[in-house]
Amino acid sequence: MTKRAFPPGFLWGVATSAFQIEGAPDADGRGESIWDRFAATPGRIADGSDARVACDHYRRWREDLALLRELGVNAYRFSVAWPRVLPRGRGAVNGRGLDFYDRLVDALLEAGIAPLATLYHWDLPQPLQDEGGWGSRATAEAFVAYAEAVGMRLGDRVRRWATHNEPWCIATLGHEQGEHAPGLRDPALALRAAHHVLLSHGWAVAALRRHAPAAEVGIVLNLVPAYPASPSEADRDAARAFDGFFNRWYLDPVFHGVYPADAVADRVARGHLRGPELPFVHDGDLAAIAAPTDFLGVNYYTRAILRSDAIPEAENAPRTLRAPPPEGLTDMGWEVFPAGLHDLLLRLQRDYAPASLLVAENGAAYEDPPGAAGPILEDPRRVAYLRAHLAAAHRAIAEGVPLAGYFHWSLLDNFEWGHGYTKRFGLYRVDFATQARVPRASARFYRDVIAANAIALEP
Ligand code: FCB
Repeated sequence: MTKRAFPPGFLWGVATSAFQIEGAPDADGRGESIWDRFAATPGRIADGSDARVACDHYRRWREDLALLRELGVNAYRFSVAWPRVLPRGRGAVNGRGLDFYDRLVDALLEAGIAPLATLYHWDLPQPLQDEGGWGSRATAEAFVAYAEAVGMRLGDRVRRWATHNEPWCIATLGHEQGEHAPGLRDPALALRAAHHVLLSHGWAVAALRRHAPAAEVGIVLNLVPAYPASPSEADRDAARAFDGFFNRWYLDPVFHGVYPADAVADRVARGHLRGPELPFVHDGDLAAIAAPTDFLGVNYYTRAILRSDAIPEAENAPRTLRAPPPEGLTDMGWEVFPAGLHDLLLRLQRDYAPASLLVAENGAAYEDPPGAAGPILEDPRRVAYLRAHLAAAHRAIAEGVPLAGYFHWSLLDNFEWGHGYTKRFGLYRVDFATQARVPRASARFYRDVIAANAIALEP
């Protein structure tokens, strides 16, 4: 066994999001979110479920904190639910909603666990959707007021903030593919929504800096490296187009203050834009979006392999055009491709040079093998996934990438959006009938990695 040590002070964490774990939609004055509405709409969620209970984390958070301690993480990424803080999206702050995160942050700090708070992990207050949602510039303004409210309450203790989680999913899955709330299918609207999300990011960076001057602020993007299926020019162009649509549409404005011209041209060609002028971009927007940040959070799950004759009308999911062996897919149908994480981190460093990087999510959905029973559930595929991705991350660090931390998705099985409870990502299994949490072997594996600040590679 060879050991690979991580840098001293490396952040080891797990990630969760409010809507996926909290439940308690009516507690302490919380308002309705677009995901409450979406999940209540028949046919939207694969198993017909909703997140009214989810992991009951709003009530059981102390129990979940004990799991964090058991893992030995020194960091925890969670999200704040906007509808708890501003039940109508704007206006009067609901202090009781903030109290929940206030207590959580204090308890984390007492346990020596550094909080990383995400302001927006998709749960827009429904009243804002009723006024146009992310399609409306006013929502970006409302987001800043929300950021102010949270920053004012928690900014003295939370030292790491992410504005948004995965703008691509907000825009494309929510407004173009209709697979996520608000369930719309309008490509032109999706581009406008993406812009307002990015704009609100830039504005919120400034707001957070006012209330938490010493804090690190960044954004979390889901990035899918694109590989051509062959070296042919046509396949390489297909990969370029996918990369432009999926990755550079967000990276370029945030780091270079510009939308990628080739991807804009692709959208014009598809009729989603009238011309290269983006009508929703006002003077000063791109400068605001490119506000300097302290880290880029990367959510990495898989890659895409692109073939020219298969450029889809709308690329909604990473697509693998050569079928990999069945054991090479997770239950999401995503190819396991650890080298993609290494390649992606190097590329980000080369093309964008963020001040630092965090893997803000990485993980795998696997059903437990039949007959698996407690006290520890064997999940060898998740252990292998975790080990291989940590090895890839380590390789990137050794090659000079300023990767400062890794957050595994997720602590617990939870409400996996349109898939309901059918996809299990947890280091801990949740029995949704009893709310019992049972550790998987991957939790033990991760605990040992954290304790050693190193991974042992198999020979
Ligand atoms: C990411 C989301 C996260 C979870 C994982 C599996 O896109 O940020 O909430 O659903 O995928």
